[in-house]
Amino acid sequence: MKKRLPDIYYNPMSMIGSAIAIISLGTILFLFFIDLLSDKTAIYVGIITYIILPSIMIVGLLLIPIGAYLERRREKKHGKREHMLPRIDLNEPRHRLAFSIFSLGTVLLLLLTAIGSYRAYEYTDRTEFCGALCHEVMEPEYVTYLDSPHARVRCVDCHVGAGATWFVRSKLDGAYQVYATLLDIYPRPIPTPIQNLRPAQETCETCHWPLHFYGDKKRVENYFLSDRDNTRWSVSLLMRTGGGMSETGPAEGIHWHMNIANTIEYAYIDQQREQIAWVRVEDREGNSTEYFSSEYSVPGDELANLETRVMDCMDCHNRPTHVFEPPARSVNYSLALNQMDRSLPYLRRVAVDAMLRDYETKDEALLYIEDYITDYYRTTYPGVYAQRQSSVEQAVREVQRIFSRNFFPTMNVNWRVYPNQIGHLEYPGCFRCHANNMFSPEGQAISSDCNDCHIIMAQGEGPPRRVLTIDGLDFEHPVDIGDSWKHVACHTCHTGT
Ligand code: HEC
Ligand code: HEC
Ligand code: HEC
Ligand code: HEC
Ligand code: HEC
Ligand code: HEC
Repeated sequence: MKKRLPDIYYNPMSMIGSAIAIISLGTILFLFFIDLLSDKTAIYVGIITYIILPSIMIVGLLLIPIGAYLERRREKKHGKREHMLPRIDLNEPRHRLAFSIFSLGTVLLLLLTAIGSYRAYEYTDRTEFCGALCHEVMEPEYVTYLDSPHARVRCVDCHVGAGATWFVRSKLDGAYQVYATLLDIYPRPIPTPIQNLRPAQETCETCHWPLHFYGDKKRVENYFLSDRDNTRWSVSLLMRTGGGMSETGPAEGIHWHMNIANTIEYAYIDQQREQIAWVRVEDREGNSTEYFSSEYSVPGDELANLETRVMDCMDCHNRPTHVFEPPARSVNYSLALNQMDRSLPYLRRVAVDAMLRDYETKDEALLYIEDYITDYYRTTYPGVYAQRQSSVEQAVREVQRIFSRNFFPTMNVNWRVYPNQIGHLEYPGCFRCHANNMFSPEGQAISSDCNDCHIIMAQGEGPPRRVLTIDGLDFEHPVDIGDSWKHVACHTCHTGT
C-alpha cells in the first residue's frame, strides 16, 4: 500500500480512531437529514444523533493524535528520529496531503460542531426531551402538563426562561438529574417548592402581564354529595381577579398582590410554606403594615430567624400546570360531564373510595379499582348490577382513567404530596393569611370577608342556575354543619376525599 500520509499516522490506534470517527460522522449526517426531513422524530433518535454519536466521534478523533503520539514515542525510543517535533514540509506530497486533510477537517469539524451544538441545545429544550425521556421520573409532571392550559407552552419557558445564566444552570442541573436517574437515586416524590425555581417575573410574566389584570371572571363549580342519590350542588362565583393597576380600573381584587406598587413579604415555618407566622405589606409610598399569626405565634427572636419570601405568582399559582386533582374533585368533574351514570346509587362515594388505598403500582391499582366497584354493586345492589352492568363497567373505566391521570404510585405522587394553593377548599391556600388569623399589633386583621375575593352569584341543589345575582349571596353550606364553616377552615374537613 502506498502511504499517502506521514508514517506516524500508520499505527493501529490512529487507524481505528479514524474508522470510528468516519463511521459515526456518516451516521450522524444520515440521522441529521432524517431529522430535518420529518417534523416529528422519536426522542431516542435525537439523543443518539446529537449526544451519543458526537461523543463517540470525538473519542475516535482523539484516538488519532494519541495513536500518532505513542507511535512517535516508540520510534524515538528506537532512535529513528532526531527531532522533538514533527517537521512539516509542504513541498512533500505526503505532508501536503496530511496538512490539507487536517486543516479542512478542522474547519469542517468546527462547522459541524456549531450546527451540532445548536441542534443539541434545541433538542434538549424540547418538551419531549424534558417530559418523556426519563419516562418514570417525569411521568407525573408530563401527564398533568399535557392535560393543562399550558400544554402548548414548552417546559423550558417556565423552568428555564431566557438568558445564558439560567440556561447554563439548567443544563448543569440537568446533567446531575441524568446521573441521578441512571443511578436510580432520585427522590420520589420530587420535593417542592422547587428551591431554585426562576422568579415568576422572569418566566410567567413574559406571557402574562400583571398590569393587565382587570375585570372579573365567572367560575361555576359542580359538586355531588356522598349520598345515595349523588345529589348535585352547584355554585357560581364571580372571581374578582382584577387589581393590576389603577389606570385601567380600581386597583383592588385578587391581583392587587401583584400590583408592582405593593410588596408583600412573609415568614414561614414549614417547607411547604403553609404555616405563615408573619406578613408585611409595603405600599408605593413606603408605608408598611405588619401582621402576626394568631395560629403560629413565634417569639420575636425566633421570628427573625425564619425564612422569608416576597410573594409572587407562585405563592398562589403554584400548580399552573402540574395539577394533581383530589379524588373528590375529579369525580365531581367527571359526574358533571356525564362520564359516569349518576343514577348508580352511592357512585360518588364508591368511586372516590376505590382510589384511596395505598397502591404500589398503577397496574395493581387498576385491577383493584375494577374489583372494588364491581364487587360493591354485585353484592350491595344485585338488582341494579343485573340491570345496568354496562354502567358499572363504564364507571370502572372512568375511575381507572381518573386514577391514571392523578395518581403515580411509583413516584409516590398524588394530591396530598403537591398542594394547590389557589383556593381554600382542600388546602390552606388563601386562608393561610385570610382566615381571621393574621393581626396587626393594633388588632386589625387581614380581610377574610368571603366577598373580598369572590361574589356568590348563585348556589343550590341541581345544575347551575340561570338566574344570577351580582349583589352577592350569603354562602350556604350544602350539608348542615351549623355555623362551623365560619370558624373552621374548609380544608380541615375537606381533605380531598
Ligand atoms: C406554565 C409553566 C410550567 C410549564 C409549562 C411546566 N412547568 Fe413544571 N412546574 C411549574 C411550577 C410552577 C412548578 C411548581 C414549583 C413549586 O411548587 O415550587 C413546577 C414543578 C415541576 C416539577 C417538580 C415536581 C412537581 O410536580 O412540582 C417537575 C419535575 C416539573 N415541573 C417538570 C416539568 C416538565 C417535564 C415540563 C414539560 C413537560 C414542565 N414541568 C412544564 C411550572 C411549569
Ligand atoms: C409561553 C407563554 C406562557 C408562559 C411562560 C406562562 N403562561 Fe400561563 N398561559 C399561557 C396561555 C397562552 C394561557 C391560556 C391558555 C388557554 O386559555 O387555553 C395561559 C393560561 C394561564 C392561566 C389560566 C388557566 C386557566 O385555568 O384558565 C393561569 C392561571 C396561568 N396561565 C398562570 C401562569 C403562571 C403562574 C406561569 C408561570 C409559572 C405561566 N402562566 C407561564 C401562556 C403562558
Ligand atoms: C394572591 C394570589 C394570586 C397571585 C399572587 C397571583 N394570582 Fe393570578 N389568579 C389568582 C386567582 C385566585 C385567580 C382566579 C382563579 C380562578 O379561576 O378561580 C387568578 C387568575 C389568574 C389568571 C387567569 C385570569 C383569567 O381572567 O382567566 C391568570 C392568567 C393569572 N392569574 C396569572 C397570574 C400571574 C402571571 C401572576 C404573577 C404575576 C399571578 N397570577 C399572581 C390568584 C393570584
Ligand atoms: C382571600 C380570598 C378568599 C376569601 C376570603 C374566601 N375565598 Fe372562597 N375562594 C377563593 C378562591 C381564589 C377560590 C377559587 C379556587 C380555584 O380557583 O380553584 C375560592 C373558591 C370558593 C368556593 C368554590 C370551592 C372550590 O374550590 O371548588 C366556595 C364555595 C367558596 N370559595 C366559598 C367561600 C366562603 C364561604 C368564604 C367565606 C367564609 C370564602 N370563600 C372566602 C378565595 C377566597
Ligand atoms: C402570605 C399571605 C397572603 C396570602 C397567602 C394571600 N394573601 Fe391576599 N392579601 C394579603 C395581605 C397582607 C393583603 C393586604 C391586606 C391589607 O392591607 O388590608 C391582602 C389583600 C388581598 C385582597 C384585597 C386587595 C384590596 O382590594 O385591597 C384580596 C382580594 C386578596 N388578598 C386575595 C387573595 C387570594 C384570592 C389569595 C389566595 C389565592 C390570597 N389573597 C392569598 C396576604 C395574603
Ligand atoms: C365541619 C366540617 C366542614 C367544614 C368546616 C366545611 N365543610 Fe363543606 N362539607 C362538609 C361535609 C361533611 C360535606 C358533605 C360531603 C359529602 O357529601 O361528600 C361538605 C360538602 C361541601 C360541598 C359540596 C361537596 C363537595 O364535593 O365538596 C362544598 C362545595 C363545600 N362543602 C364547601 C365548603 C366550604 C367552601 C367551606 C369553608 C368555607 C366548607 N365547606 C367547610 C363538611 C365541612
